[in-house]
Amino acid sequence: MPHEWDSAEYVSKWIEDGDKTDPERAEQITALVGLIQRSAEESIEVLDLGAGYGIVTREIFTAYPNAQVVCLDGSAEMLKHGKARLADLENQLSFIVASFDSPNWLATLPANRQFDAVVSSRAIHHVVDDRKQALYKEIFQLLKPGGCFVNHDLVRKPDDPIRDNHDPFGTVEDQVVWLENIGFIDVECFWQTEGRALFGGYKSW
Ligand SMILES: C[S@@+](CC[C@H](N)C(=O)[O-])C[C@H]1O[C@@H](n2cnc3c(N)ncnc32)[C@H](O)[C@@H]1O
Repeated sequence: MPHEWDSAEYVSKWIEDGDKTDPERAEQITALVGLIQRSAEESIEVLDLGAGYGIVTREIFTAYPNAQVVCLDGSAEMLKHGKARLADLENQLSFIVASFDSPNWLATLPANRQFDAVVSSRAIHHVVDDRKQALYKEIFQLLKPGGCFVNHDLVRKPDDPIRDNHDPFGTVEDQVVWLENIGFIDVECFWQTEGRALFGGYKSW
């Protein structure tokens, strides 16, 4: 069933149910943030793609209290929840409503903005594989030297057929190769289970 990210009712319900559908979610988000591998006191600049109600961003601030985070999402409704939940950190945050289903989202970022980390959870699978690969290139270009991209997302299990446009298409093995071909180093699938994976890589210094 397609998601209705523009519906206030749907979004509230999704947030309410969201964490219950994946018992390992909190652990995986902590692991994702752990992969950024910087000193806790650093004022790292982070982009949370498909930030939703801010669950990953909240964990970023737990690990990096001086971080500056841009939360980008195609759903104004989702970001409304994010803003409310992260209100205590408003001086370290900015919110952008934009869709990464075309390269136009890049123009919504401040000119020449670069990031120490681009993070994402359960969002990028919403775009088809060709667009995913283009997006990964765009992310690579936004990273500072030594920066990382880490993604906790739905992926296609190798034996699953591609059913429709809502499928998560690429397997994690495919996606690791895409990242390596773009120039990411130390690319790895750090964790995977039934149809979900935590993977990413780094930009060399
Ligand atoms: C399943 S929610 C995950 C939200 C959050 N990252 C989390 O882990 O709770 C997916 C989010 O991705 C956003 N999203 C989906 N497709 C998008 C796109 N093409 N551009 C920007 N955001 C998108 C949705 O609006 C939604 O907030």
